[in-house]
Amino acid sequence: MTDKTSATYGSVSRLNHWLGAALFASLLIVGFILSYDVLPDEQAGEMRNLHKATGTLVFFFALWRVTWRLGQGFPPAASDRAAWELTLSKLVHGAMLLALIIMPLSGILMSLMGGRGIDMYGLFTIPAFAEMKDFARSARAVHGYAAYTLATLIVLHIAGALKHAVIDRDGTLRRMLSGQAAV
Ligand code: HEM
Ligand code: HEM
Repeated sequence: MTDKTSATYGSVSRLNHWLGAALFASLLIVGFILSYDVLPDEQAGEMRNLHKATGTLVFFFALWRVTWRLGQGFPPAASDRAAWELTLSKLVHGAMLLALIIMPLSGILMSLMGGRGIDMYGLFTIPAFAEMKDFARSARAVHGYAAYTLATLIVLHIAGALKHAVIDRDGTLRRMLSGQAAV
């Protein structure tokens, strides 16, 4: 199966992008709500379980999404860009793809190594490892730093997409929305 075209994103790539964007944006928001401790304990507990179970499923989606992108490669820029813009966009895309793996993986490790299982929507529980509190603490720190990094990159990324749409008026956003190749 191939989704490769020289100038645009095919339907698999677009589905991966927008589904991934919705899932990660929601998990980031829920994660921040949890860590800022704004909910009553009982609600926070339920929300944490949902965050963990959904994040664990999203890990498998992220593995697929990143493998697909690496397998397909990136289409060339939709319009002539300065070298620094191409480098910045490569760095941001690469860092975001890395964060898509690090976020769920660090979440899973911090829970399991911290001695807490992952309740998969009440269907079954992924059991904890033997407790490794130091590793769990490091994984917790990675989860937090990666979350702030990813959130910052997303803001930069959306600003870039809007710049392409409003100022450059090239086909960058269009090809991710409709798959129509840039002209
Ligand atoms: C898949 C993508 C995920 C994203 C985008 C995400 C995002 C976040 C964010 C933004 C925070 C708050 C971080 C902070 O302020 O320090 C957080 C906290 C947390 N995450 Fe995740 N997470 C994901 C997956 C997971 C997974 C798979 C687990 C566990 C199985 C998990 C467990 C937790 C826990 C236990 C907290 C702490 C909540 C609290 O402070 O009560 N996360 N997450
Ligand atoms: C309103 C929100 C968003 C908009 C308008 C948007 C727009 C775009 C556009 C236009 C591209 C194509 C860039 C190019 O062709 O050079 C792209 C690629 C990309 N976006 Fe987004 N994006 C959004 C949200 C997100 C989020 C939340 C994430 C991460 C969780 C993300 C991750 C990526 C990645 C990794 C790429 C590289 C190509 C790929 O693998 O899909 N985007 N985005």
